[in-house]
Amino acid sequence: MKKKIPYVAAWAISGSMLFTACSGASNPTSASDATTAIAISASETEAQSDELLLTIEENFDGTTDFWQINGECEVALQNNTAIISDRGASNAGIEIPCNNFRGNTIRASANVASENSNVALTLKYNIYGNTSYVRIAEGTTSASIFGTITGTVTIPANASECAVYVESSDVRDITVNSMTVAVEGNFNDLTNTPPAELQDPSGYDSLKELYADYFRVGTCLPVSVIDNPNTEFLTLLNTEFNSVTPENELKPENVLDAATTLANPEEYNECPALDFSAADPILSYCQENGIAMRGHTLIWYSQTPSWLFYEDYDVNGELASRELMLTRMENYIDSVMSYCEENYPGVIYAWDVVNEAADDNGRGMRECYWIDTIGEDYVERAFEFARAHAPEGVQLFYNDYNEYFTSKQNEILDFLRPVAEAGNIDGIGMQSHISNMIMPETYIEAMNRYVDELGVIIHITELDVNAPISANPLYDQGVYMQSLFEAIIEAKDNGTPIECVTFWGLTDDMSWRSSNTPLLFTGNIEPKPAFEGVVCAITGGEIATPDDYVVVEVDLSPISEDYEDEEYIGSPRYSSTQSISDDNPYSGDYCLENSGGNETYDGYCIDVTDFAGVSIHYSFAVRSDADMVNFTADIEGSWPHITEVDTSSGEWVVVEGDYLVPSGLSYLQVYWESSDMSPFYLDDVSIEAN
Ligand code: XIL
Repeated sequence: MKKKIPYVAAWAISGSMLFTACSGASNPTSASDATTAIAISASETEAQSDELLLTIEENFDGTTDFWQINGECEVALQNNTAIISDRGASNAGIEIPCNNFRGNTIRASANVASENSNVALTLKYNIYGNTSYVRIAEGTTSASIFGTITGTVTIPANASECAVYVESSDVRDITVNSMTVAVEGNFNDLTNTPPAELQDPSGYDSLKELYADYFRVGTCLPVSVIDNPNTEFLTLLNTEFNSVTPENELKPENVLDAATTLANPEEYNECPALDFSAADPILSYCQENGIAMRGHTLIWYSQTPSWLFYEDYDVNGELASRELMLTRMENYIDSVMSYCEENYPGVIYAWDVVNEAADDNGRGMRECYWIDTIGEDYVERAFEFARAHAPEGVQLFYNDYNEYFTSKQNEILDFLRPVAEAGNIDGIGMQSHISNMIMPETYIEAMNRYVDELGVIIHITELDVNAPISANPLYDQGVYMQSLFEAIIEAKDNGTPIECVTFWGLTDDMSWRSSNTPLLFTGNIEPKPAFEGVVCAITGGEIATPDDYVVVEVDLSPISEDYEDEEYIGSPRYSSTQSISDDNPYSGDYCLENSGGNETYDGYCIDVTDFAGVSIHYSFAVRSDADMVNFTADIEGSWPHITEVDTSSGEWVVVEGDYLVPSGLSYLQVYWESSDMSPFYLDDVSIEAN
């Protein structure tokens, strides 16, 4: 049975969540174990109160019609599952419309099985004429075992045409056993509330003008902006930015013409067919309006269809040989660069040649089809081809995220050194999907390391900064943004060659991380404190304190521990143990002993959340059998060493110093840890505001 069902705005409501929300990506269950749906029809729901949890649950058993087809594919209902086949693209499949949930946080879940290595749930919506896609969750799958993918996302209040859909890494079949979209927390009913009015940004301060002496200021752009009848978005682009990166339109999944190539694999064996219809409108707009473009991206493990890597482009066959893949790679790089240059001469000034080749867990290079086929030198080869075919003067970039973490930085430097030695790379793209836990200094140090070791320039390519979880998230985000841009300006003044800073999107609601409101403008184009922060960094002003600023009461009384009362206020980190010891104290009769633990970071910690934004003075005495004891900050998942103490003498060492506790954080500790888990001893600990 095949069917295509029109949009049905129906609701299923239950007193509690019907579906067990699992954390983690994949929770294998067999099809027969799957939760049974209790769906109530739309007429029954009208009598229910808004306070009830709203759940749309589709079990594909023929009793509900909440789903519809998304894109080019066939759907057959069989044994209470939906089998999606003949998928024309990796995002083709089933979707559940959830328009009435706009302005709410939702939990979306799907119980699926597939031969695709990866299946994901994505939210899409229309936002003032632009389409946005936000990844909700993804998981690895197998064809024989059903697994649940689940995650939460906040749908912007001004969104329309909202739907959650299933997509995958490839076009193989997907079997869906159930899909659920449920409101989390209290239901914010916006069904009869019109979207906020779009603002005209033409009079806003112009970032491209303010920063003209420093670097280009860019944004990524979805093609929908170009012919959006809401011309405010183009006005925003033209007012603020002089560099554009197509958000998805120049990625292999959009440029590779699957239909033509797969219909005639022999003809296209060495050179897949290409289709630039997605990117053309952006390229031509930039050409007509004199806006420079960063080309993004040629070689990537993601958003690249897996058929590209197979013999005869047949995903059920063998992987293509190294030789064939080198040929395909060179032809692809050459054809894409040549097409853009011939049709839009001079528009693209930089290409991200390779994106995200480094592994996230310090294991060197990320596993991917490029490695499986060509091998670990694929990055070197890609840059060689790019240099050979790039138009004169077009700069070649390696682009990645988290490239300020030392381990990832080491990996990147390792595989880029030969590329730099061969003269085939011009720049490092620091994506910069960050939050305010990244210290601006750490970020600048990382840039300088690439500059020094590879002789490259720097582009910040995809900047967005999650609003922190704090009493004043948007204000704190603005304060951080100002400090970040001040650091960037200072670095540039000191000679760091930063030549472009690109934000990853025009407005919060258009962002791929919209739930974290990470950009400079609200969905209806109102400037945020984050925008003010970027402006103030260059004009020297201070961002205004909002009228609704929440003053947080804090206790800045000094923290002092000499252990003479045989008590302490700190606590263990994970599995370590503290005790009061009279074994050779530094002063008085007692000191603190930290022992045990399974990891070096299982130490002793003191909460300093109240000192957020304050400069503190610390002093303590420490001894240990370990060579080193680190005094470290734990700031929402980042662990900078405040000081590293050489304890190799085994004697007491007295340490003191100052530390500026980052602001806008909801959770902050300082802790001591020994380098090899040997016990360490503390005495006369003092922390006070300067
Ligand atoms: C993102 C886009 O913003 C989304 O629309 C898309 O669904 C996924 O990709 N690193 C990159 C960018 O290099 O290309 C990604 O862009 C974000 C992460």
